[in-house]
Amino acid sequence: MITNENIIKDGNEILRKIAEPVSVPITKADLSTGKKMLKYLEYSQDEKKSKKYNLTPGVGLAAPQIAISKRFFAVLCEDNNNELVEFVVYNPEIIAESVQMEYLGGGEGCLSVPGKSGVVLRHKKIKVKGIFYYPLTNELKEDRLTFSGYPSIVFQHEFDHLNGVLFTDKITNNVKDAEQI
Ligand code: NI
Repeated sequence: MITNENIIKDGNEILRKIAEPVSVPITKADLSTGKKMLKYLEYSQDEKKSKKYNLTPGVGLAAPQIAISKRFFAVLCEDNNNELVEFVVYNPEIIAESVQMEYLGGGEGCLSVPGKSGVVLRHKKIKVKGIFYYPLTNELKEDRLTFSGYPSIVFQHEFDHLNGVLFTDKITNNVKDAEQI
């Protein structure tokens, strides 16, 4: 089980590396790690379990954050229609991005940068592809998806982790023309 102690913090050089592509087909080990990352997010959002295991709540977790410098991450959040967005994605690519930007009014945070938050501009809508694992159907398949609103922000934040970028690198005061969500 992944807990707070497994999550490396800002200052650790692994967080600054360009992560390596995941070998395809996805190995059992990489799939198992992805499932554990999802489990962390799920437990961290559950009041009782997060207390029991002392987990900081999160909506996304990238492999480099648990010191695995490979290109995959887990997301567990809700979209604008309160639908659950839950997956692990391996070798993700962002293939298109809207010109329109958006940001979280309350700012972003990160499990690897405890206690900090800040406003970051993100593309309102993105098209992505990658090998997705969907826990609800237990499917692992190549897929193309479009995200907008909150999941788009979460995806871009996690994607940045694969390129050694932290949200703190991108904090801005200039939100002109961007939409607050
Ligand atoms: Ni983060």
